[in-house]
Amino acid sequence: MATVKESTARSSRELVITAQQHILEQQQAHAPDAGGTFSWLLSGITLATKMIEAKVRRAGLLDVLGSAGETNVQGETQQKLDIYANQALLHCLGLRDTVAILVSEENEEPVTFDRARETGKYVIFFDPLDGSSNIDVNVSVGTIFSIFRRPPKMDGGIEAAVLQPGWKQVAAGYVVYGSSTILVYSAGKGVFGFTLNPDIGAYVLSHDNLRMPHQGNFYSVNEAQAHTFPAPYREYIGRLRSGALGREYSSRYVGSLVADFHRTILKGGVFVYPPTRGYPRGKLRLLYEANPLAFIAEQAGGMACDGEQRILEIQPREIHERTPLVVGGRAELEEFQRCWRATQ
Ligand code: AHG
Ligand code: MN
Ligand code: MN
Repeated sequence: MATVKESTARSSRELVITAQQHILEQQQAHAPDAGGTFSWLLSGITLATKMIEAKVRRAGLLDVLGSAGETNVQGETQQKLDIYANQALLHCLGLRDTVAILVSEENEEPVTFDRARETGKYVIFFDPLDGSSNIDVNVSVGTIFSIFRRPPKMDGGIEAAVLQPGWKQVAAGYVVYGSSTILVYSAGKGVFGFTLNPDIGAYVLSHDNLRMPHQGNFYSVNEAQAHTFPAPYREYIGRLRSGALGREYSSRYVGSLVADFHRTILKGGVFVYPPTRGYPRGKLRLLYEANPLAFIAEQAGGMACDGEQRILEIQPREIHERTPLVVGGRAELEEFQRCWRATQ
């Protein structure tokens, strides 16, 4: 017969598994030597996203809507919330002594911390606010992050530490500020989703071991640019539309990568951002948009490529470089690869 203590422990565990608990359990199971540094690091990210969420939820009431009248390194108009989100992440992560380097979409250069080699173990990339052009019209936005270990020797300096291929990520995740606020992350042993419970201020496990459906019913691309897509992409979209994959597809395009990706991992299908006349290398950034989402997609059984190769095998050349991105279920990606080969 279970003792009171045991049954209480079991019932409370059945009730609520927070992201903090889950990360600790993952770490004890898969990286016992990490000694809690990894979960301490992730708590910095979850704290920052709760600060961002509080502002996003009140955007119409606070003076955080609209542009900040600045442009970022990308030459894009910065929204006030872009700046707030960036400051929240820099602040919360800067306080974690396990962080050696931070790379943000909103900062031209990496932010380095003078940490001893044995403490400053991690390099973190983030898009503090993804889809920010959608804030003023109350459409879902998000935060994306990607975590690497700092190379032990650091003989290549900062460059060697930040220009690592995506397959070296130790973890990646995103938060989508939508009808609810959901954190999705992977530390290399599956994908897990946590919904923010505002009553207790904690992310609670809501999607245990997420798997990307083999084939879905949605394709997601900005159709307005379709006439400027390279031939493989035009051929591919045509085949999705014509039922060549054995089913009818619907088109869904939110215009916030995190929202379009979250639907894709839950419902299946494919998200495509091809090279366009305006963005000959595609619009999305490799290090803090494509890499983390490709890592998560593959951990959930999906695929992600840039046409030529797996996103995770791209050797970065500079921190804000862009890449074409095709990410989704195995059926849709294998069809894209067929179109790619047929038009080379
Ligand atoms: P960000 O707000 O971080 O600059 O990202 C915007 C990106 C991405 O969220 C979305 O998929 C894409 O821009 C939409 O671009 P288009 O408006 O060109 O379709
Ligand atoms: Mn973005
Ligand atoms: Mn952004």
